[in-house]
Amino acid sequence: MPSFTVYKGQKGGKVYKTETSKPELQGDQILIKVTASGLCGTDLHYREADQGIGHEGVGVVEATGPGVTHLKKGDRVGWGYQHNSCGHCQECLRGNETYCAERQMYGYANLDQGSCASHAVWREAFLFNIPDSMSDEVAAPMMCGGATVFNALHAYSAQPTETVGVMGVGGLGHLAIQFAAKMGCHVVVLSGSDKKKDEALKLGAQEFIATKNVKEIKPSRPLNRLLVTTSAQPDWEKLVPAFAPGATIHPLSVDEGNFAIPYMPLLANGLTVQGSIVASRYIHTRMLDFAALHKIEPIIEKFPMDESNINQAMDKLNEGNIRYRGVFVNQ
Ligand SMILES: NC(=O)c1ccc[n+]([C@@H]2O[C@H](COP(=O)([O-])OP(=O)(O)OC[C@H]3O[C@@H](n4cnc5c(N)ncnc54)[C@H](OP(=O)(O)O)[C@@H]3O)[C@@H](O)[C@H]2O)c1
Ligand SMILES: [Zn+2]
Ligand SMILES: [Zn+2]
Repeated sequence: MPSFTVYKGQKGGKVYKTETSKPELQGDQILIKVTASGLCGTDLHYREADQGIGHEGVGVVEATGPGVTHLKKGDRVGWGYQHNSCGHCQECLRGNETYCAERQMYGYANLDQGSCASHAVWREAFLFNIPDSMSDEVAAPMMCGGATVFNALHAYSAQPTETVGVMGVGGLGHLAIQFAAKMGCHVVVLSGSDKKKDEALKLGAQEFIATKNVKEIKPSRPLNRLLVTTSAQPDWEKLVPAFAPGATIHPLSVDEGNFAIPYMPLLANGLTVQGSIVASRYIHTRMLDFAALHKIEPIIEKFPMDESNINQAMDKLNEGNIRYRGVFVNQ
């Protein structure tokens, strides 16, 4: 019966160290020794919840259940936001398991464990091999952040001839700039202030617009696609002049309330609004291959994986001061 350390949220928002125990490994379950965990903006929404924190995990296979077929002890694996799905519904059958009615995801299933932990138990079917060229701490932010932005571009057929906007240069945004640039797109970055301009240009952006004191956003080339990766919804009204006719808007921010955009410009410019959540496993593996080939890597800030560092890093992320992804590392 494996039992191991996990870091959980609680009322008041102070993440604390505790233990969880699991039954003997069943079916295709795998016990993973966690080496690294990314800290995603979404984790901030669960700080007060009674659940294991973290959903950007990387580690080494320590033990395998009786139904495991291809992974073996010692393999480097990662996992992300989704842990399970039914495997037989229409969405699962067409490789869209992220929309399975029985999906198990961070925040509402398997709440006793997360990637901020010494170990974790997950199904082999929802684990990803890590490319040899990628270190554990570099791979961790790809498990949610990388997958989410690659999915928006790849699953919805971004073309190299497009002008792609990335709004918000955080964990997701700084990876989105790199993915879109390597796909051959003309990348326009929209960021609150000028502070991240040099880095955004180095990551592959052609144009950078500081949005805070601007009445309307108008890049030199209208956007065919916009990935919104800010931690809250933007002022959509300000953004309407930025779009080319037929543009697609990908709102990725986790936020409450309604999506409120001026109505007639949506019709008159033939805009599409495309929501999405992380990536199916097929697209996730394409993302890892693409990132390894093109040397797309997060810029990370490393923290030891312990109670005080997890809380400090979460505060720092909440204040907008992480450049650009926090990663916890087990010593
Ligand atoms: N749809 C999905 O599947 C999915 C998956 C993962 C994450 N998410 C969500 O995506 C968002 C970004 O995640 P992340 O991990 O990249 O977070 P992050 O590292 O905190 O980055 C968010 C960025 O938003 C901007 N920002 C900060 N405070 C803001 C505020 N009060 N209002 C508007 N913008 C603000 C900043 O960029 P600038 O300084 O450039 O303005 C910041 O770097 C979060 O809402 C997260 O929950 C969604
Ligand atoms: Zn996430
Ligand atoms: Zn299903």
